[in-house]
Amino acid sequence: MTDTVSRRSALRLLGGAIAVATAATSGLTPPAHALDRPEAGAGPRVEGLIGKLTLDEKISLLHGATDPDPLGQAGYIPGVQRLGIPPLRLADGPAGVRVTKHATALPAPVLLASAFDPDLARRYGQVIGREGRALGQDVLLSPMVNLIRTPYAGRNFETFSEDPLLASDMVAAEIGGIQGEHLIATVKHFAMNNQEKDRDSIDVRVDEQTMHELELRGFEAAVGAGTGAVMGAYNKVNGTFSCENKTLLTDVLREQWGFEGWVMTDWFAAHSTVKAIAAGLDMEMPDGTYFGTALKTAVKNRSVPERHVDRAVRRVLAVMDRFGLLDGSAPPRPERDAPAGAAVALEVAKAGATLLRNEHRTLPLAPGGTVAVIGPTGTLPFVSGGGSAHVIPDHADSPLEAIKSRAGKVTYALGEDLFGKAIPASALSPAFAGEGIQVGAGKTWTYDGTLTASEADQWTFVIHYSAAPTLRPKVLLDGEDLFPLAPGYGEYFSGGLISADPDGLSVRRKTLSLTKGAHRLQITAQGGDAGQLFRLRRITGATRAQDVAEAAKAARAARDVVLFAYEDATEGLDRTTVALPGNQTKLIEAVTAANPRTTVVLNTSSSTSMPWLRRTGAVLQMYYPGQEGAAATAAVLFGESDPGGRLTQSFPADDDHHPVAGDPRRYPGVDGVEEYSEGIHGGYRWYDAEGVRPLFPFGFGLSYTSFSYEDLRARRTRRGLEVSFTVRNTGRREGVDVPQVYVGPSPELRLDQAVRVLGGYRRVALRAGERRRIVVEVAARTLSSWDPKRHDWVLGTGRRTVWVGASSRDLRLRTNVEVGT
Ligand code: BGC
Repeated sequence: MTDTVSRRSALRLLGGAIAVATAATSGLTPPAHALDRPEAGAGPRVEGLIGKLTLDEKISLLHGATDPDPLGQAGYIPGVQRLGIPPLRLADGPAGVRVTKHATALPAPVLLASAFDPDLARRYGQVIGREGRALGQDVLLSPMVNLIRTPYAGRNFETFSEDPLLASDMVAAEIGGIQGEHLIATVKHFAMNNQEKDRDSIDVRVDEQTMHELELRGFEAAVGAGTGAVMGAYNKVNGTFSCENKTLLTDVLREQWGFEGWVMTDWFAAHSTVKAIAAGLDMEMPDGTYFGTALKTAVKNRSVPERHVDRAVRRVLAVMDRFGLLDGSAPPRPERDAPAGAAVALEVAKAGATLLRNEHRTLPLAPGGTVAVIGPTGTLPFVSGGGSAHVIPDHADSPLEAIKSRAGKVTYALGEDLFGKAIPASALSPAFAGEGIQVGAGKTWTYDGTLTASEADQWTFVIHYSAAPTLRPKVLLDGEDLFPLAPGYGEYFSGGLISADPDGLSVRRKTLSLTKGAHRLQITAQGGDAGQLFRLRRITGATRAQDVAEAAKAARAARDVVLFAYEDATEGLDRTTVALPGNQTKLIEAVTAANPRTTVVLNTSSSTSMPWLRRTGAVLQMYYPGQEGAAATAAVLFGESDPGGRLTQSFPADDDHHPVAGDPRRYPGVDGVEEYSEGIHGGYRWYDAEGVRPLFPFGFGLSYTSFSYEDLRARRTRRGLEVSFTVRNTGRREGVDVPQVYVGPSPELRLDQAVRVLGGYRRVALRAGERRRIVVEVAARTLSSWDPKRHDWVLGTGRRTVWVGASSRDLRLRTNVEVGT
């Protein structure tokens, strides 16, 4: 098989089984002619257009431009009107369509994946696909399928899992849903974009086996599902930027996988013209620094052959043709169906809700009981994370109200102050109205005075301001600039929810130890073109203690407590600890001491350490649950819905025990280089290989009922393994379970292998007492390892152990099966 079409069909026919690429075509050095070959699938219409396009017109299709009629999307390609090539509008993102209009804010993808339900992922994609087209978009910059490698990564909420099989299933199903609605999907960020720290420059050093067995599998699945576009990542891989990395963009993507769509850069991730287009990059976004005039010059001076430009144009047009954008056969843009979007958002949030602890029948809560709701995100709903995945929701209800509608008496205490309290006038000399300085347009307001601290204390200074970041008020304390502007693009990313106050003003915080006595305070606030409103507030040890005391008092007076805890993640930033931010650990300790029937609801991006776990009654992981999060959370808390989610990532016990702990070369990198030296042992594979106990293992999650597994059988089939077993609901109510199949290593392969890997799973809803026979197919791919010498997959033959369990650490049934060739 030497051409792209036949390789691709072969992969499709095998349906995820072992790739049968020959040594010549599966290696990392493809034949020289491969780069120049016309793409398969580009029909006469596309070829005809390429023949008519001028060089300028071709180049205009290969880089972003300013949209004359912007809808708030991330990118725009103008099209060529005279030839009937329409413009393309490209919008984020992973949890809903990000434009300036309202859209369904779906739960974060990590919550979707927690449901372990590819069909739900397809319907999630369908909602985004329809809304994207309804909102004037042609290309969706989603899904993100980078694996969760480090618990610190700022985008863990935007992606699916640490496990490549689950991630692959999710991405393929979601792309099917998106593209079934005629919106072009873009799988991102290719590849190894597993952290935000230094994402623009970090050089990921990773061996071929690790890359293929872990991170690349999701991308390959996306190609198998027919994704129209791929977005290159910011980072380097093995010394070369992803967006000009021939190994990734041509050898793997085109030659090994047969990708026929186009590759665009992440935003401002291009680094060259000649090298990038030769390596296989097709489109620069969002502007034309390298693929605009520079590309034209390079063609003119023959450093880029025009056929490389044609090749890139062909790839873009071929996808447009496939989606009916060139001949007008694309269906008309639909209307948004907001109620249908909301229904899916609610279903996903309920389905992914992951119950991590439930002692003394703390949950479900009894309808009509007394409940104390605690925490800032109890009233200010945590809908979605920050950065490009943030969507303008149709609505965002308060969890407090959703609980009130079900409980008898409900009280509320803040517990943790996010926005600060007014600085008493007595502490400022001269006094000023820190609660509201209105600076007129074109005016500058200044203050130079003294702030007096009555005792040595931790102060958090909080500014609220209405102007753009560049006009952020300058606050100097004893000469130190408390809120310096981050250079350039970094300023864009400032946290998801809590970087704006309920009035919509931007918020920044700075915590420092203040000595007792007088401190010089200087402020300069500018009105800019439109004027600005500015506030200076503070949180001190005393106000923190007061907030915690009031929360404990409310907890003591109620039968049950629901404490909402948060972590505010965004792209562009990694967190520095797996502990909850702010004063939340102290808050949880005080509240659980006052009332052990406390349920902690986690609105976090990723894993969290829980030194307070044993003091709680229950812990419910809701991640960022989208616009229907309040209703979904309340439905699970009150038992209207069984928490059917399972962890898609291992939760470490602390900062010292996880796959990237203790070795800065592994994370966050040293001198710009990061080594994936854990090799193929990422995620739960690392915990198993090292014998480290996670706080909660991959696949873990409780139900309100209980399940047993029996009668395990495994047999070899042509496609892999068929594993069957019986699941029984042994409790007294209906519920949802996700039994998981794990497979042990092959005794015959001389390659590094994991202790066990996820081979399959099934989400199943059973009535009390009901039993069901489950059949799970384990694909040959899962039974195979990537052989770096052959540059190909090899089947792991011999006697292999098969387990069925309720998590990667709760393996209840076991058998062996002979895997032959
Ligand atoms: C992100 C991408 C996103 C793009 C456009 C980048 O900063 O990394 O995921 O699609 O911006 O908004």
